[in-house]
Amino acid sequence: MIQEISSPVTPWVNLNAGPAALPSTVLQQASNAILSLNNSGLSILSISHRSPEFETILNETNQNLKSLLNVPDTHAILWMQGGASTQFHLVVMNLLARKSNEINTPKADYVVTGSWSEKAAEMANHLGVQVNHVIPNPNFKQVPPRETWTPSGPGEVLFTYVCTNETVHGIEIEESDYFPLVESNQSILVADMSSNILSKQLEVSKYGIIFAGAQKNMGPAGVTLVIVRKDLISPVTSDKLPTMFDYATFLKSNSLHNTPPVYAIYVIGLMLQWIQDQGGMAGMNENNQTKATLLYSALKKSRYFHALVHPPYQSRMNVVFNLVNDDGKSAELLTKKFLKFAESRGIIGLNGHRSVGGCRASLYNAVTLEDVQRLISVIEEFDLLI
Ligand SMILES: Cc1ncc(COP(=O)(O)O)c(C=O)c1O
Repeated sequence: MIQEISSPVTPWVNLNAGPAALPSTVLQQASNAILSLNNSGLSILSISHRSPEFETILNETNQNLKSLLNVPDTHAILWMQGGASTQFHLVVMNLLARKSNEINTPKADYVVTGSWSEKAAEMANHLGVQVNHVIPNPNFKQVPPRETWTPSGPGEVLFTYVCTNETVHGIEIEESDYFPLVESNQSILVADMSSNILSKQLEVSKYGIIFAGAQKNMGPAGVTLVIVRKDLISPVTSDKLPTMFDYATFLKSNSLHNTPPVYAIYVIGLMLQWIQDQGGMAGMNENNQTKATLLYSALKKSRYFHALVHPPYQSRMNVVFNLVNDDGKSAELLTKKFLKFAESRGIIGLNGHRSVGGCRASLYNAVTLEDVQRLISVIEEFDLLI
């Protein structure tokens, strides 16, 4: 149990898309550990990654993650660097190194629902994978009906790739959307969960590879979680991969082949304890659902605010919206005014991604219900002002 502190470390409502808000109690403990880790007189920044102290931190972090997400023994937890962007390549390279048949062109189904899965599909293409776009004409504002999807047939593709939450466009897809795909094409399921990992329970056993950058829902930037089915990285070494690109290197060494981001892993450990204290995945799921429902319904009720994504794929993590004039046309000037107004009321990180514009409220685990209520009252106030 992390010690509660009386006042928030930061006075802002921080709705940044990532790196993003962390709970005050986690920030407090993380800052204490910079001066003295567990009253040892040693800084977390200056201990060896091979020390017994860090070994305990790493093992507890793995154990807590395993129990929170119900990770079965068939799967390994790896901590890597290079961000989720590096995983766009590494998932492909690791699967091709062991699973591809050298004669035929490797094929994969990519479910492109936003710019991150679009990028990942491009990277796979660069690596020689023949990419089948399961959604023929994506528009990133909604997911076209399932009847229009064009998945490959049984055994035709090596893997199926999804991004479970598109951080930029605010589209979240569910296991019920993509599990049927891998059941029908019988391929390995690969998921980028950078912006909704640990926001709800998952059926981890159904995935071949899950990856997620830490800096949104899980901790600070600098470390990437990979959960991989162990049989996919067998044989243990692949002579086709550079050592540091090979998941097996991280499996064999318990993520300690080289120096890991010690501090980032430590803060993730604190975050996992905090999640447990909030009721685990069930608690997170309920909070996240409540926060998002409140905000989407406030947008719906308002006169000038407009959510850009249609239900049922509206992300609970990244609520993307803009302001529109009475004629329904996007009002960029008004949106800019609103962003300034929100900042004057203590709300930051609300600007949309540069490729989309408008506003984006990222409601990750550490964003509280009170934070969302504060945003809603600012929206209501602005709606009346104009
Ligand atoms: C869904 C998703 N995938 C991948 C990335 C890329 O992550 P990184 O910056 O850690 O490489 C991001 C970053 O925001 C993301 O939101």
